[in-house]
This record gives sequence, C-alpha cells and structure tokens, in this order.
Amino acid sequence: MAHIHLSPDPQAVAAAATEWLDSLLSASTGPFHMALSGGSTPKLMFAHWAQQAWPWERLHLWWVDERCVPPDHADSNYGMTREQLLDQVPLPAAQVHRMRGEDAPATEARRYGDLIYQHLPQEDGLPVFDLIWLGMGDDGHTASIFPHQLALIGVAEPCAVATHPTSGQQRITLTGPVLNAARQVAFLVTGRGKRPRLTEIFHQTPGYSQYPAAHIQPITGELHWFWDEAAQPEDM
Ligand code: 6PG
Repeated sequence: MAHIHLSPDPQAVAAAATEWLDSLLSASTGPFHMALSGGSTPKLMFAHWAQQAWPWERLHLWWVDERCVPPDHADSNYGMTREQLLDQVPLPAAQVHRMRGEDAPATEARRYGDLIYQHLPQEDGLPVFDLIWLGMGDDGHTASIFPHQLALIGVAEPCAVATHPTSGQQRITLTGPVLNAARQVAFLVTGRGKRPRLTEIFHQTPGYSQYPAAHIQPITGELHWFWDEAAQPEDM
C-alpha cells in the first residue's frame, strides 16, 4: 500500500518531504544510504536540506541516475546536487558516491554496481538502500528507465546504461530490482503534466503497466508518494 502525501505546491512538497526525511533520520542509527534523483522538485528540496543540522557524518549519498556528461555540465545530476547541497553541508567527501557521467557508460555502470554491492547491506542477494528518491516524467519514466526500455525494470545488473528516447542522450541508471529492494522509496511528483500518468497508474487503467513508474513496488519496504495539487490523480 502506498502512503500519499498531498501538498499545495512544489515548495510545500519539498518541505513535507524534508520533514519526513528528518523523522527517518531521527529514528535511525549508523550509516544511512540514500540515493538521489535529478529533477526540479529535488532541486527545491535540496535547498531545504542545506539548512538542516542533520547527522551528515553518517549519511552516504548515491545517485539513482546520471546523464553521461561531465560533473560541471548543466545536465549533471551530481553537479546540481553539489551546487544546491554538497557545497553547503559537512558531508564527508568519501561518502558522496557519484556516478561518473564522464566515463565510458558501460564500464561506469559495472563499476557503480560493484561499488553498491561493496558498501550496502544485502538481503536475498540484493543491496538495500535505506531510502531512494524517485521522480516521474510526463511519459511515466522513473530513474532513467523510459517506456521504450521497460526491460531495465527486470534486469539482474544493479546498474545499466539507458538512452533518452528523444535526445538520444545516454544515461546511467539503477535498475528495477535494486529500486524495489530499498527500505523506503519516495516519489516526488509535481505539476499538471504528471496528472494523466498518475491517474492511469493509480486507477490501473488498461495499458498502465507500460509505464516504468508503475513497476516500483518495494518488496518489503514502504512506498511514499509526495505530490502537489496540480499532479493529484483524478478521483482521488
Ligand atoms: C533525471 C531524473 C528523472 C526525473 C524525472 C522527473 O535525471 O532526469 O532522475 O527520472 O526524476 O524526469 O523530473 P522532474 O521532477 O523534473 O519532473
């Protein structure tokens, strides 16, 4: 069952998600492994995080996906996070595990998958993140798993190379089994453009399973959806 968090607008979504993370951190001890997504709402949320007196020394940051560009490129998810958050909080550099968008994609996907297995606890052979943040595109994609590459939801490798359907840009992305092995998965979804896909997914209208976001169903973990009024599915 999904937990829904409705807020009036994107800023309020960012604040509500920050408050929720604050409660998770308060309830946890030891290393906390969290994977981040890119996108507009995370950007707002990171600005909130930068103000928090959190136990940064036990946080490990990972990425859900990355565009295959260098870290100082405007498209880099790591670059956005560095500007909004990392430059402002005392998080040890050795605990920031970025995907190296400047490296050969297939090699980097293998390296990153291995790194995840080295650092994270495992259950049933899968690495378990404490928390994974996801977004959803207007086309129903999540992470960098787009509808034309839905198979990435099921592949055994924890990390894979993906291609953006229109720009052809290569991406590196975590895959379905790792996403669904997390203790907590939280979607941040804002804006009117998201409403049609959310409506189809939540009402399970015929064809909804073509959307990668519909396949995020944590095996034993919790699923949280933070959305604003503009994105709220019809009839909910
Ligand atoms: C990325 C993301 C991607 C994102 C969605 C939603 O790197 O592009 O990880 O999956 O979460 O496209 O993005 P918005 O929140 O900006 O709509």
